[in-house]
Amino acid sequence: MKRNAILLAAALTLAGCNQNQTAQVPAPAPAPVEAAAPAAPAGGTDDRRQFMINVVAPATKPIWDLSYADKMSDADWETVKKATADLVAAMPQIAADPRGQDPKWKDSLMKVSADADAAQKAATEKNQMALAMAGDAMVEDCGGCHKDFDPGAK
Ligand code: HEC
Repeated sequence: MKRNAILLAAALTLAGCNQNQTAQVPAPAPAPVEAAAPAAPAGGTDDRRQFMINVVAPATKPIWDLSYADKMSDADWETVKKATADLVAAMPQIAADPRGQDPKWKDSLMKVSADADAAQKAATEKNQMALAMAGDAMVEDCGGCHKDFDPGAK
């Protein structure tokens, strides 16, 4: 949990989110970086849905599609490497959502962020078993946030 918070904080720092908004500091904030409310992309829920559909889902699909292949080719690994990099890069954007300060949102995001890091590591190491496990965890962890915040989603 602590480690996830640090990973997320690192992701946020990498994205250079030092927006100067007055952030509401949640009392038990585990890491100071989390208190900084990063700039959300303009617009609300519809933009977020498009971002999920156009960026997050395509970065996740190759993990799900390829990790259960009998054997992954070098080209498959290249695809997955790129996808996992895109997915990791998408995390600060999800954190920047207007709902990003909700503890449930943060909790889901930290899990998915850890899964994305694990998938990226698996891709670097060409560890198919680890990739499949990260993908499995994402099914549950992506779904966790959707259950809380997008009840219409399956
Ligand atoms: C912290 C919350 C959160 C996490 C984590 C998250 N999502 Fe989402 N996602 C949402 C919300 C909320 C929506 C609905 C749109 C909105 O309200 O902004 C959504 C919508 C979607 C949609 C569009 C559904 C539709 O048919 O309209 C897809 C696809 C999607 N997410 C994929 C993913 C995948 C894949 C992951 C994991 C890698 C993921 N999401 C992780 C919050 C999250």
